[in-house]
Formats: sequence, structure tokens, C-alpha cells
Amino acid sequence: PAVTPRFRPAIHFTARDTWLNDPNGLVFHDGLYHLFFQNNPFGSVWGNMSWGHATSTDLLQWTEHPVAIAGDETEDIFSGSVVVDHGNTSEFGSIESPALVAVYTSAFKAGTIHSGTQAQSLAYSTDGGMTWRKYDQNPVLTRNSEHFRDPKVFRYEGPQGSFWVMVAVEAQQQKVVFYRSDDLKTWDFLSHFGPANADAGEWECPDLFPLAVDGDPGNTAWVLIVNVNPGAVAGGSGGQYFVGQFDGVRFLPDAGSLAAPTGLSSIADAEAAAAAMQQCLWLDWGRDCYASVSFSDAPDNRRIIIGWMNNWDYANQLPTAPWRSSMTLARELRLSSVSGATRLVQHPVLGEAKEELSETGSFELGSEALRLPDAFPGRAQVIQAEIKPGTAERVEVKLLASPDGSQGTVLSYTTSNSRLTLDRTRSGDTTFHEKFASAESAPVALEDGVLKLLIIVDQSSVEVFAQDGTVVLTDLVFPGANSQENWLAAEGGTATVLKLAVSSLA
Ligand code: FRU
Repeated sequence: PAVTPRFRPAIHFTARDTWLNDPNGLVFHDGLYHLFFQNNPFGSVWGNMSWGHATSTDLLQWTEHPVAIAGDETEDIFSGSVVVDHGNTSEFGSIESPALVAVYTSAFKAGTIHSGTQAQSLAYSTDGGMTWRKYDQNPVLTRNSEHFRDPKVFRYEGPQGSFWVMVAVEAQQQKVVFYRSDDLKTWDFLSHFGPANADAGEWECPDLFPLAVDGDPGNTAWVLIVNVNPGAVAGGSGGQYFVGQFDGVRFLPDAGSLAAPTGLSSIADAEAAAAAMQQCLWLDWGRDCYASVSFSDAPDNRRIIIGWMNNWDYANQLPTAPWRSSMTLARELRLSSVSGATRLVQHPVLGEAKEELSETGSFELGSEALRLPDAFPGRAQVIQAEIKPGTAERVEVKLLASPDGSQGTVLSYTTSNSRLTLDRTRSGDTTFHEKFASAESAPVALEDGVLKLLIIVDQSSVEVFAQDGTVVLTDLVFPGANSQENWLAAEGGTATVLKLAVSSLA
């Protein structure tokens, strides 16, 4: 089939001409980042689930490879992870040449021996991830459940010893379940966590990892990522996280990361529940960042995540074909003390390939809008701004705007309520699904009166990292062909722009 170039991102991964959803099996091995992904090899909507495959050396430019693990008449291949079995615990490889082991969910089809259930299975590669063989004794872990899925496996080394840990979900019970293993083939139950915080929808695609707080290796906290669909802060699917400790058996959340210890759905008062929703820890406050999970074995102990840049509310209807859906940019995570609490901060991986278009020093900004360099056709654009709203009631960045100003995606900061809003109600094509036109907002505290923004605009997406990555907002947009103008303005007073830099990314 003909491939539509329209809306195809420059620096976000898309499958060449098929459907994709969750990133799977993210692993760095032998100089290559591997991105496996939920893929329909035969179509542009969800179905025939298999693991597609792509690799990259810089997390920006990807090469797609043949399907890695294919579904068949007995099972769909749902989400999961890949580990490098350095100790050859599985005996699929050797110490000198370790196997890559995929732990994935078998979604068993009706009429098969495990009919209708979801269980965890293995596949392995002894050629660095390019070809895969399913283990002949699959599945390796069953719970006789129809909603047991999305295993993320990592090597635990700590007071309890050294072993594999699997983090998975009982999706409809809003529970994360933890198991341990010595060989990836036999698993013992450890504990479960949940429901807590956002629990209106199914819990999916969990992840668990330790990170140094403020870069201090003597002060480690654990982050538990739990994706939820629906019931995320902006509506539909989204990712939340908890900060706490993992002792080799169970995850113990910090009191400060529990907005609703037994889940939002247990709060009867609607206003109190809405307030608690704002207090949950969100990886992203936008509409289009789901199923975020991290790389195994990333270099220099870095913790890098990628999400699916979409929302189940309208995923199958996005106006592109035959390719449909993309991943978010890779985002590096750190833990930081923010007003006494430990919070994730995220930095997009942008590499060195930036070409500066303009850089300006300090100037006053009023209601007369300032035009920024246009987005380069076919390229992604990076806008960095440090703005003191001052007396202004509102500071506005209008992105991908049409020449007559009637269309555009509006990012605005309102000083009266300290909220940053991304509004795509007039961003272009919003009519393909009734739930698409939307405006998302997040609380953002100024630092010394300053709002810091890092905005990445690609052909059909806007990703906003505010206050050095403390708050992130990601939205898809489908602008008209002539909508390429970017404008900056202040309303109801005067703001000071301390720094403004625009660059282009090939
Ligand atoms: C999340 C998800 C996972 C599942 C996969 C199926 O988007 O629903 O829970 O494994 O997608 O494609």
C-alpha cells in the first residue's frame, strides 16, 4: 500500500506501514538500543498482536526490522520485557555470549488448552536480538487469570540476594504482582501492591527500578510506574508512578506519594476525589503518553523510558494510514527533591544534531505577539524559553498556527491559578473522534518567578517539559498543511523573556 508521508514524525518512531502500540522489550545491548513494540504486522488497527522490532544508536533515528515474535493461531503476543541473561541462568546462551530473553504475555485464544487466559512466556535470541525462538515449555507462569499481563523483569541485587524479579499486573484488580526466579523459568510469588491512587481503569505495563535521589548514590529510592486506562488525569490512558522502597519482597510507597492509599474510587466525595487526582504522581499530564517503560542495561546506569504517544480513547482512529501511531521521544529519568518530596524529572534525549535558528536575550513581552522562526518543513523543532510572567495574566505560545491565526495549538500559563495548559481544540483535524479535541492542564509553580519551557514540536506532536522536566505534557495534533507559524505573546500585563532559543532537529 502507498505510505502517507503526511504527519509522519521526523524524530519519533513509527512503523513503516502498520499499526503499533506499547513499547516492549526495551534493552541496550552491544551498542544498540532495541525497541520491540506491540504490532499488527497485517494492518493499521489493533490486532494480530506480535512484537515488531527496531534498533537505534542514538534513540532518535530508528531502523525497522522484521517481526521478532509473531502471534499465531494459539496466542497473541502481548507486552513484556527483555533482559540480557549475563549469568546464563536460563541456559539459553552462554556466559561468553549471553542470550537475550524476552518475557512476554501469551494472550491465549479460545479453544486452546489455556483458552482465554493470559500467562507469561519466554522467547530467546542468541544473535543479539535479531531472531527469536519461543521456549518449548511455555507458559512459564500462570495464575488462571484472564487479565494477568505485561511482565517487566529486572535483576535484583540487594539484602535479599541476587535474583530475577518480575513485576506484572492483575489488570482488573488494579494490582501490581511481584514474583522472583533464579532461572527465568520457575517463578515464586512475592507480594502485590494496589489498588492505590488512580484506579478507575485497568492497571497495565508496570515498571520498577531504583534511582539515586539528587544524584547521591548513598540515597536511593525505588520508582514504581503503573499505567492506567482509562482514568488518567487528562482522560483515557496515562501513566502514574509511586516513589518508595523495594526490599526484595514488597514495594512500600512513601506516604508522600499516596494521594489515595486505597484508590481514588474509594473516595465517595467527588470534589475530594478530583483534588486527589491532581495529587497523584503523573509521568505526563497530556493525553498522549501511555505504557511508558524503561530500558534494561542502559549505558552508565541511565534510566531511560519511552512511551506510546497515543490514547486508547481514539488510538485506532488517528488520521494516518497505513502507518498508525508513534512512540514518544526517549526520556531520561532522575529523582529530585522538589519542595521536600521526591519526584521524577524527565529530560528528552535530543542528541547533538541541533541546528540553532535563533537565540535572544532579555526583552519585554506584551500583547503584541512575537513571531518565532517557523517550523522547518519535515523537521522537528525545539523551543526553549525562560519567561517571567511578571504582571501578565497569561503567557501564550501558539504553535503550528495557520497564517490567519484561526488554527493553532496553544500552550499557555495562567498566573492566577499557576496552571500550564495545552489546548488542541483548534489544532487542525480534531473531528476524527469526539474525544480528541481537548485542553490539558497541570499545576506548575514558578521558580523565582520564572517559567522554564522546553517544547519539542514534530509533525504531529507537541511535547512540553516545564521547570526542568518536573512537569511533562504530551499531545498529538494534526495541523493543516499551512499551519507552521509559532507565536509568543503576553496578555493583561508585561512579561519578561529572559531567554528564547529555537532550533531545528533533522
Ligand atoms: C496496553 C495493553 C497491554 C497489553 C497490550 C496489548 O496498551 O493493553 O496491557 O499487553 O496493550 O496490545
